[in-house]
Parts: sequence; C-alpha cells; structure tokens
Amino acid sequence: MLYGTSAQAVCQQKTPHFHTYEIANHGTLWYSAVKQYEQGINTMKNLETEIKTIEAECLSELKKARSLESLESVRVSYLGRNGKVADLMSTLKKLSLEQKRTFGPVLNQFKQRLTLAYESRKDALEKKSTSPDALFDVTAYKPNQMHGSLHIYTQIIEQLSSIFISMGYTIADGPEMETEYYNFTTLNIPEDHPARDSHDTFWLSQPDRLLRTHTSSVQAHSMEENPAPLAIFAPGRCYRNEATDATHDFMFTQGEGLFIDKNVSMAQLLATAQTFLQQFFGSEKLKIRVRPGYFPFVEPGVEIDGSCPFCTDGCSVCKHTQWIELLGAGLVHPNVLRVNGIDPDQYSGFAFGFGIERLAMIKYGITDIRLFHSANIPFLKQFA
Ligand code: DAH
Repeated sequence: MLYGTSAQAVCQQKTPHFHTYEIANHGTLWYSAVKQYEQGINTMKNLETEIKTIEAECLSELKKARSLESLESVRVSYLGRNGKVADLMSTLKKLSLEQKRTFGPVLNQFKQRLTLAYESRKDALEKKSTSPDALFDVTAYKPNQMHGSLHIYTQIIEQLSSIFISMGYTIADGPEMETEYYNFTTLNIPEDHPARDSHDTFWLSQPDRLLRTHTSSVQAHSMEENPAPLAIFAPGRCYRNEATDATHDFMFTQGEGLFIDKNVSMAQLLATAQTFLQQFFGSEKLKIRVRPGYFPFVEPGVEIDGSCPFCTDGCSVCKHTQWIELLGAGLVHPNVLRVNGIDPDQYSGFAFGFGIERLAMIKYGITDIRLFHSANIPFLKQFA
C-alpha cells in the first residue's frame, strides 16, 4: 500500500517538456523512495520477528527462574533500562511517522505483556518462598540423629563372601527349613546314625521338615543345580535345639565351602583354608595345623586350627595355647558324590565348614555369641 501510493505519486509528477530529464530525475527519486519504503517495511518485519523471538525467550527464562534473585536478573535483561525491550523501543526512532503510529502501540503492548508475565512469576515465587515447604531444608543438620549401619552379620558375611569370590567361588544359598534328605541322608548320615541325634535338631510339625542344623545341607542343592566341576561358598543361618551360653546359641550362622573337580587333593584344601584365614584375619603370618576329625560326609575328615592372630606366645584369645580351633573339613566322601550323581571315580572334592559368629568373636574380641541377635544398640554401634 505505502509502496504503491508513493510510486504513483512520484510518476504523476512527470511533465511532457522535460520528459527525459524528468523521467531520469523522477526515476531516481522513485527508486530512492522505493528503497526507503522497503527499508521501512524491512525494519517493521524485523521488528515483528524480533518481538516474537524476544517474547518467547523472556517467557521461557521467567519460567526457569526458581528464585527471586534469578527472576530479578531476567527482569533487568529484558525490562531494565538497558534491556532488550528498551533496545527495541529505540529502533522506533528510525521509523517514519506513519510507521511509528503503527508500531508504537505494538511495542507498548509487547512491553506490557512481558511486564505482566514478570509480575505474575514474581507473585508465584514470593508465595513459594514463604510457604512451609520452602522453609524445610533437607540438608539441615539435626543433632543427635541415629544413623543406621550394616549389621555385624552382614559385614562379616560380605567379608567372607568377597574372599571366596576372589578365589573363584560362587555364593550359594539353600532353605533354612529343610528335609531330612538334604540335612542328613545326602550327607552320608543314615537314618539310625547317632550323628543325627548329636545335632539337636528342631523338628517341625510337618512330617520330614526340620530347621537345618548346618549349612552342609547346601552341598546337595548345589550339586543338583550345577554340573561338576564346582566351587561354592554358602553362608547362612542354622538352628540347634540346645541350651545357650556365651559360646552356644540356638540360632547361629555357618559358612560352608564345597570344591569339586578332578584330582582334588588334601594339599588344595589346606592351601584354601590357610589363604582364607590369612585374608580374614589380615595376617599373612597365620599358619594352620591339622588334626583328625570325624564328619560322616568327608573321608578323611580333619579339624583345622589357626595360629593365634593376636600373639606369638599365648594370650587369652587362644587360651595360652597359641592355636585356635577354626574349621571342620575333609575330602568329600565318595557316597556324597554318588548320591548327588557325581562319579567318584572321575571327580573328587573337599568341603569345609565353620561358625561365622565364632570367627567374628575371635576377630573382634566379642565375648558372648548371644549379642549378635540381641538388638543391643551399644554392641551394634561398635560396628557402625
Ligand atoms: N557341618 C559341620 C558342622 O556343622 C561342619 C563341617 C565339618 C562342614 C566338616 C564340612 C566339613 O563341610 O567337611 O559341625
């Protein structure tokens, strides 16, 4: 429109006498008028796109502002004296009067919209900063608070497991409620064998159900689930119906190890026991000694003592003997392999078992096994 009117106006000024000159002269005038209007139109177009861009930017920054301080910096950069809105306002000066009339109100409305958006965001943030939620500081320090920690059982089982994992063992598990088969029969303990009585078993009311008396019951589960060769370590809770005192409890934890491969030797068992005990007590000087022992599921069976990790010439821990009884062990009885489907002519193995509380009591100087499940806070706090 502006463009058309002005072009007409320039052309209408032509006179017949000075035709050539006039055309040339008016042509130049026309051309510069066109340029001028084009420039004006461009300025306006630019203004329109700039308004859109700045408005979108400003609204998104207002939304992102999470505090009154960051909101203030958004205000300064858009609505402040040298802000982007003021910048845009100053371009009005470049426009013609007519354009100013069109664009003045557009810019004013733009400024108003941003001012309103800023004010409503400010309102919202002010409300938030005085609400009870805002006063709750999750990082605030509260004196005398209780800290939870891993139970000594968990810590010891993790230590033991990681030692066996480092030697290539897999951690195995089995049920605490067992059948006679897994707790006794599969371990070469026949029905009428006195070893069944010596275990002081808790029998359950369901037929053939008992609380496992040792973690050796995991041996058969592991052999059923995995083909030979295998190496498992099974920590877990056991139960025996016996009177309690400082070193005996009706509920305790054991660790059971089972290693099956071709040509397994007693030397391998002893090396494993020594390495494990050295790691657990943190003493490379720890030695082991072996005495004969009877356990129906191993042949030969042995008892393994460790040299006292706390003294060289006798102390209260080793009862002045320099040796501490630590493990029951032996080479897996051929009957145990056979009943679990492993050919004893091809494979052999070793097994060992120990009381986890007993090891922990020796390591940490704990004097009463019943403390472990006593929920005694001062006791537990020592391991926090
Ligand atoms: N199960 C035995 C107990 O509860 C400990 C034990 C002894 C486990 C000898 C074994 C072993 O694997 O070979 O007293």
